[in-house]
Amino acid sequence: MSENLLSIRDLKVHFPIRQGTSRLLKAVDGVDLEIQRGESVALVGESGSGKSTLGATIVGMQKPTTGQIIFDGNELGNDKESAAKRMRDIQIVFQDPVSALNPRMDIGDSIAEPLAIHGVGSRVQRAQRVAELLELVGLNPQHADRKPSMFSGGQRQRIVIARAIALQPKLLVLDEPVSALDVSIRSQILNLLLELQQRLGLSYLFISHDLSVVRHFADRVAVLYLGRIAETGRTADVFSRPVHPYTEALLSAVPLPDPKAQRTRQRIILQGDLPSPANPPAGCRFSTRCPIAEPICRETPPSLQPVRPMQQAACHLRAPAVHI
Ligand SMILES: Nc1ncnc2c1ncn2[C@@H]1O[C@H](COP(=O)(O)OP(=O)(O)OP(=O)(O)O)[C@@H](O)[C@H]1O
Ligand SMILES: [Mg+2]
Repeated sequence: MSENLLSIRDLKVHFPIRQGTSRLLKAVDGVDLEIQRGESVALVGESGSGKSTLGATIVGMQKPTTGQIIFDGNELGNDKESAAKRMRDIQIVFQDPVSALNPRMDIGDSIAEPLAIHGVGSRVQRAQRVAELLELVGLNPQHADRKPSMFSGGQRQRIVIARAIALQPKLLVLDEPVSALDVSIRSQILNLLLELQQRLGLSYLFISHDLSVVRHFADRVAVLYLGRIAETGRTADVFSRPVHPYTEALLSAVPLPDPKAQRTRQRIILQGDLPSPANPPAGCRFSTRCPIAEPICRETPPSLQPVRPMQQAACHLRAPAVHI
């Protein structure tokens, strides 16, 4: 059994800008990513960088334009078999638990729905499994016959998580799972996710804007900029020694735990807005906003190069390609 649960190779997801035109919006444009069994990998980057599109493509809600998705040793395509495998083994949790639950359905029925669809167990066995799942996510198993409106936002996200793990998936894509929740309950949900990961051996792709959350949550991090990975590495390494100027800028906005260090740290303010993925800059996509860009950066796109064990960056200046 390979250690890699998920391998993504040169994945591209392009959208036609308007029906009938040939111009493309390159939401994801050549991403390689691996997730090992039991590992949590965070995907970070500004709004519009392609995080949700990548997540949706992994779960099969979005068709890739080109590239490969290899899951558990098999390439996932658009055939029935791949769809069935995905439904069992890969689940997604979105940020808004309110729209994720049918308001007219008892929460127990919502949680049991994937089991019923897959014909798992009898009615009684499914009810038992629902009770078990409710307990697992920290809710009262006797509340299975209540409607979603009886629960708080945090409790509803627990219900959504219970449904996501009902079929014992191997990978959960968590798309901003706590962003819609009150700040005071975010850490409870994050702790629940960490606890479930330990107990069930789950792997996570954790999509988040919030780098201070990522620091505590993820084993590894991938920084996305306009559909490409700018830097990737172990979370502790990337946070303590970022290599790419974009990672540096993102991290400079994250408050440091040590107040003394916080007072002396420099915030890097990026010039200009994120360019449109419909019309990305030539060369390095970050070159139009990069404080250290040189002519080569505006001409040639950099590829990811190793900088330290397990850490790679796509930057001509900080991580030059070695030509042998
Ligand atoms: N179905 C679609 N059709 C056309 N364009 C799309 C579609 N889905 C996403 N896009 C575009 O692809 C780009 C990436 O969007 P995506 O939602 O993946 O970004 P994101 O990183 O998740 O952003 P956010 O942090 O705001 O959630 C955006 O420019 C978006 O407008
Ligand atoms: Mg998104």
